[in-house]
Amino acid sequence: MYETWEELENSIKDCRKCKLCPTRHNIVFGEGNKQADIMFIGEGPGADEDSQGLPFVGKAGQLMNKAYQGLGIKREEVYITNIVKCRPPSNRVPEEDEARACLDYLRNQVILVKPKIIVLLGSTALKNILGKEYGITSARGKWIEQKGIHYMPTWHPAALLRDENKKIEFWKDLKEVVNKYEEIKSQNK
Ligand code: URA
Repeated sequence: MYETWEELENSIKDCRKCKLCPTRHNIVFGEGNKQADIMFIGEGPGADEDSQGLPFVGKAGQLMNKAYQGLGIKREEVYITNIVKCRPPSNRVPEEDEARACLDYLRNQVILVKPKIIVLLGSTALKNILGKEYGITSARGKWIEQKGIHYMPTWHPAALLRDENKKIEFWKDLKEVVNKYEEIKSQNK
C-alpha cells in the first residue's frame, strides 16, 4: 500500500498487470475530491473514458452528472473511480483475473480517500467489493456497513439507459445517500 497519491499514481502509470493493457489508450485512474465523504465506484472505462483518461465522461457519465445536480452535490465534491482502470474490449464485463489484478489500486484509493459512504454502481462493483454472494437486484437500495464505511449498492447508470423503471429506484437510492451524508455531517459538527 502506498501512503501518498503521488506514489500510488506512479505505481499505476505503466501497469501491465492484466490482459487489458495492450488495447487501452489511457489508464482511467479516477478523479474528484481526494478527501471526499462519498465515493462512487463503477465497472470500468468505456470508449470515451479510455480516450480521455477520465471516469464517467460518456453517456453514463452524463446521467451521473444529472444525478449529482438533482441531488444538490457537485461532481468535484465526490471521488469517482472504477473496478478496473483500463477499458475492457467492446465494453464487456471485466473478467475475474482482470478485476483481481486491479483491486489493490482501488483498495489503496479507498484507504487514501477515507470515504464514509461508497456507492456501488452495478453488479460488477457490488460483487468485487462486497462479495460474489451479493446480487444487485436484491442488494440495491439497502445499506451495508463494513469497517465503518456505509455501502449503498444501486443500478449502474448504463442500466438506466436501457430501463426507465430502474431510474426511479436509482433516484431513491441516491436520495438515501444524500440523507446519510447529511446525517453524518450533522453528527460530526
Ligand atoms: N461505465 C463505468 O462503469 N465507468 C465509467 O467510467 C464509464 C462507464
